Amino acid sequence: MKTKLGLIYGGKSAEHNVSLRTALAVINALDMNKFDIHPIYINENGEWIRGNALDAPVKEVSTLKLQDTGNTVSPVSLNAELFPAQTEQQDKIDVIFPLLHGPNGEDGTVQGLLELLNIPYVGNGVLASAAGMDKVVMKNLFAQAGLAQANYVSYIKSDYEKSPEDAYKQVEEALGYPCFVKPANLGSSVGINKCKDRQSLEQAFREAFEFDRKVIIEEGIVGREIEIAVIGNDDPSCSVVGEIAPKKEFYDYKAKYEDGDTDLIIPADITEAEYETIKEMAIKSFKAIDGSGLVRADFFLTEDGKALINEVNTMPGFTPVSMFPLLWKETGIEYPQLIEKLVDLALQRFDQKQQIKHTF
Ligand SMILES: Nc1ncnc2c1ncn2[C@@H]1O[C@H](COP(=O)(O)OP(=O)(O)O)[C@@H](O)[C@H]1O
Ligand SMILES: [Mg+2]
Repeated sequence: MKTKLGLIYGGKSAEHNVSLRTALAVINALDMNKFDIHPIYINENGEWIRGNALDAPVKEVSTLKLQDTGNTVSPVSLNAELFPAQTEQQDKIDVIFPLLHGPNGEDGTVQGLLELLNIPYVGNGVLASAAGMDKVVMKNLFAQAGLAQANYVSYIKSDYEKSPEDAYKQVEEALGYPCFVKPANLGSSVGINKCKDRQSLEQAFREAFEFDRKVIIEEGIVGREIEIAVIGNDDPSCSVVGEIAPKKEFYDYKAKYEDGDTDLIIPADITEAEYETIKEMAIKSFKAIDGSGLVRADFFLTEDGKALINEVNTMPGFTPVSMFPLLWKETGIEYPQLIEKLVDLALQRFDQKQQIKHTF
């Protein structure tokens, strides 16, 4: 019996094209003797288009941009329209892998939809996804778990607007310069600025509030950027660590997606003790957000060997040349096996959930 695997990709998001590249790689890595692949494309307008099951590998990203064949559906009618056969056995999708990043994909919304449809899916659930997307909630959870991290403050727009001057003063007193101003709920370094003085701070606040009603401001940390990959459910395991060596002021959007000239050093050259600390912190962070499936945990490692957690990504970059798969490759799990493992973990979590009583 082949597993019918649905891939949701694309999305109304800045990471649309990254998602397409991921989908292409995942499709071509999957063993078609084991999996029937069902593409589900979200176009730039946010419309969902379900394609026919694939009978051969796909060569071009453009093939994945499914054309509207009258199969365009709104997410609210997904169960009836996107999964018309979900009640009949023959075309029932067994498990879905959402290959989406950022808002409306990585933030719990798609996960909530799949929960309602009662379809197993790869990766983090609603709570972990939402908590991982909101940098303020995430850092509050880390603080509660006793994880070392940069000091931070946060503002919602309406409070800030009552007295911007007070906000700037508070930031200067609590954090000083340099500091980083970020929209709370974005990824890919969009809307993030490093500030060195009052003028740049004011500008950074204004810019961040264009992207979100909530911003976080953090003290600037001087340190290497070290990342580690985690997979599992209740008993997660860690990969080796990698290092990002940005050639710019910081790891911004351009460095991530356009220049492609950021060096990934795998494995990173750190001491055994530093590795043990980072591993332990990564597991703690996974548990702090109630993670499942996968996360990539990102750290700063200061000159004196102190590890500070920066963030967890609940759907990290997942092309074969992204940090997460490369870390597993170095650890001994190749890309196709990694995907299969994640699918297994999704099915295990789903089975476990089915045991839960809903009446008493
Ligand atoms: N507190 C900080 N100190 C130093 N550098 C930072 C800090 N916060 C972010 N950066 C830099 O900005 C980059 C993007 O910030 P991050 O919080 O990881 O946002 P995103 O979720 O968009 O990846 C980081 O990879 C790092 O290079
Ligand atoms: Mg980051």
